Amino acid sequence: MPLPVPLAYPDRIPIARLPTPLERLERTSQRLGVEVLVKRDDLLTGAELSGNKIRKLEFLLAEARARRADTVITCGGQQSNHARATALASARLGMRPLLVLRTADPARPPPPTGNILLDRVAGADIRWISMADWARRDELMAEIAAELTRAGRRPYVVPEGGSSALGSWGYVRAVVEELDPELSALPARSTTLLYACGSGGTGAGLVAGAALCGWGERGIRVAGVNVCDDRDYFVRAIGRICRDFAAAAPAAGLAIRDQDIDIVDGYVGLGYARSRPEELAELLALGRAEGLVLDPVYTGKAFYALVTELARDRDRFGERVVFLHTGGLFGLFPAAEEIGALL
Ligand SMILES: Cc1ncc(COP(=O)(O)O)c(C=O)c1O
Repeated sequence: MPLPVPLAYPDRIPIARLPTPLERLERTSQRLGVEVLVKRDDLLTGAELSGNKIRKLEFLLAEARARRADTVITCGGQQSNHARATALASARLGMRPLLVLRTADPARPPPPTGNILLDRVAGADIRWISMADWARRDELMAEIAAELTRAGRRPYVVPEGGSSALGSWGYVRAVVEELDPELSALPARSTTLLYACGSGGTGAGLVAGAALCGWGERGIRVAGVNVCDDRDYFVRAIGRICRDFAAAAPAAGLAIRDQDIDIVDGYVGLGYARSRPEELAELLALGRAEGLVLDPVYTGKAFYALVTELARDRDRFGERVVFLHTGGLFGLFPAAEEIGALL
């Protein structure tokens, strides 16, 4: 299916090994009564540098390098996959990572497990901030950038989750270059691409890419499961990034409306990065049935949403679901105790 517009991608550093595999989950398809495929973005570039953030960082770090940055600043929760991916990718490109991470008590930082350990291995300078200061994270990052500039450094700030118009090119490109041809090669079926939504950048790229490829007219939907906040928050957040994207790439002629943004709400559960036993039980069931490992914070919640929604209504997502595995494996280790309790 040719694109309606000639796409000129912004500069990009090819950090990821693409395309990622699209695999059919046989036993899960049988169990859930719909065809289930998984797009393995958890394998985006391999081990430590894995997950959805890599697609965004290809564009964001290209801009950092073009501006001759020597330090990359970003922010996230204490076990942020985005912060870890940014730290490792920056180090790989010869830039120093500085991470602003949220924790309950900055005077007593959490132990270096999971992603924090990898942040340390990448040599990240970590600044711990409280939940209250998180509300002014953009301001804090700008202050740190100004402080570094005064000291003669050249900082580049990546917004939370890499979720900006530039970062969203990562998933526009994933749809145009990979998912669209991959889905076109399969027998035509009503399909939903399901993903976990944390800061909205992945969703914005998918929604914009789907619009460019005319997925709506071909019976292919894109739906996000929010792992924090609520539906309205993400319709606004994704809508804003899509509008910024459309303004920066007017040739695309994109006009995303609120009704084009589908959010499956109701699965935040106990809150961000807090799991219920039933969510972890599904994570374990998938590990046993398919040898596929989800993370408890994002993909585990999205998969639990998939199973629960299908149990209520088999036709909820059409005849085929493409589950986007966005990575996050290292978030599993800090949850060892809770998962262990179910074994
Ligand atoms: C493993 C994983 N999946 C999904 C997401 C959500 O992506 P986004 O922040 O682009 O909404 C994130 C990050 O927030 C993540 O680390």
